[in-house]
Amino acid sequence: MANNTKRPQWRTAVEVAVISIVIYVALGAPGLSSLGPTNNENVKQSVPTARAKIESLVYPDETLSCPSHKYGVHVVTSEPLVLYIDGFLSGEEADYLVTQSQDKWQTSTIFNGGVETTDDKVRKSEKALIDRDDTVQCIEQRALAFQGWPAETFIERLWTQRYNVTGHYAYHYDWATASKISRRVSTFMVYLAADCEGGGTQFPKIARPKDARWCEFVDCSPEAEEGVTFKPRKGAAVFWSNFDAAGRGYKDTIHAGLPVTSGTKIGLNIWSWYQAGHSTPQGHISGPSTEHVA
Ligand SMILES: *[C@@H]1O[C@H](CO)[C@@H](O)[C@H](O)[C@H]1NC(C)=O
Repeated sequence: MANNTKRPQWRTAVEVAVISIVIYVALGAPGLSSLGPTNNENVKQSVPTARAKIESLVYPDETLSCPSHKYGVHVVTSEPLVLYIDGFLSGEEADYLVTQSQDKWQTSTIFNGGVETTDDKVRKSEKALIDRDDTVQCIEQRALAFQGWPAETFIERLWTQRYNVTGHYAYHYDWATASKISRRVSTFMVYLAADCEGGGTQFPKIARPKDARWCEFVDCSPEAEEGVTFKPRKGAAVFWSNFDAAGRGYKDTIHAGLPVTSGTKIGLNIWSWYQAGHSTPQGHISGPSTEHVA
């Protein structure tokens, strides 16, 4: 098969600069700011923030034996890979994570030019850092097993997100900060509590699957936004890859958390992070390997 349009292995400096400007608002993951190679402005910050990022990476205890768990997977699209996973968490697991979040809620933040800040227009929700007991590590393990235990790939500490009425997250990519050796490879958007109206996860550039059976999972109403809007359903997850094989961020993964119009939505992000050179934990998580920090 001829392939005349050879694509560069990695983004050119110009592309990186453009993307850095366009993607001004990075995700509000804790400790995550612009990593060195993508943003010259933040070179001074890049070492500490990269280290903070690496320190937030975890790997489930490999000696832990997790009960088997059934879920149903449906392919939305294969390029970029977007999947709908029904019952990724059981109702009990979802409730447990909500309980574990109690008394831990704090205002969600965004990163704006490398500075952690809040902005209701961009992101209005609360987040809670989840302790890593066996139940939680088994969820981390499920997420890694689902992806085939990719090499040098870790889980970012889990945070839940609570969206009350008017809570939302504006259109963004999850790959806003990335380098050749360090990036958020995939996202599971899991719904833990979905006693709400609105609050769908909206992908304007992904076509809604045609089959009417999808209407259980996606908004099929005439008012539905362009593209596909996944309905919050307790225990279900939307999974997608953020990068293609050459390491380019998929532009079609732009998405938003639509405003909640009644009730409360609680979500869980499970982000997998590729960190080249970070040692594979033998049984347990290794410490940060500072010589590989960008
Ligand atoms: C969201 O709703 C809960 C009650 O369901 C309340 O305790 C909490 O303070 C609300 N958060 C905000 C930011 O209003």
